[in-house]
Amino acid sequence: MTDSNHLPDRDPALRVTPLPADVNIHGDVFGGWIMSQADIAGAIVAERSAGGRVVTVAVNEFVFKHPVAIGDLVSFYGEAVRVGTTSIAVEVEVYAQRRPEDVEVYKVTEALITYVAVDQEGKKRKIRSG
Ligand SMILES: CC(C)(COP(=O)(O)OP(=O)(O)OC[C@H]1O[C@@H](n2cnc3c(N)ncnc32)[C@H](O)[C@@H]1OP(=O)(O)O)[C@@H](O)C(=O)NCCC(=O)NCCS
Repeated sequence: MTDSNHLPDRDPALRVTPLPADVNIHGDVFGGWIMSQADIAGAIVAERSAGGRVVTVAVNEFVFKHPVAIGDLVSFYGEAVRVGTTSIAVEVEVYAQRRPEDVEVYKVTEALITYVAVDQEGKKRKIRSG
């Protein structure tokens, strides 16, 4: 995982801005909101690797390094770091861009999420890379 105050030089899987319903009374974004968006971003990457449908089997690691505030532009970068027989581990790095008038970039979260490739009945299947 990289640790910088610059956005990675690749496309994010997902980019989104939290809304008022996503923050607590102090104006910080709920960790659960970040977790759900990271799960969505990781699944996008995993489905590309798996060549089809996946389900989340485990959240192996989740580290919140900086708070996210309302108005931040939040970018989720995913990379498949291990492809097994039926599973794919995706590293998700989350960056927040703050204050459009004087942009600051913070790496706010790092996560490792594992997905399992499944068929239309939801049963695990062997991965065809694609
Ligand atoms: C995901 C699911 C299909 C796996 O079925 P299973 O028969 O229990 O699978 P297994 O125990 O054989 O594990 C399948 C793969 O996941 C991996 N895995 C299982 N638990 C894991 C964990 N805690 N961390 C990392 N990998 C894990 C296994 O190593 C295996 O990988 P491999 O085939 O690449 O070697 C099944 O558990 C399921 O449907 N779970 C619910 C998924 C879901 O609804 N997710 C959304 C949550 S709301």
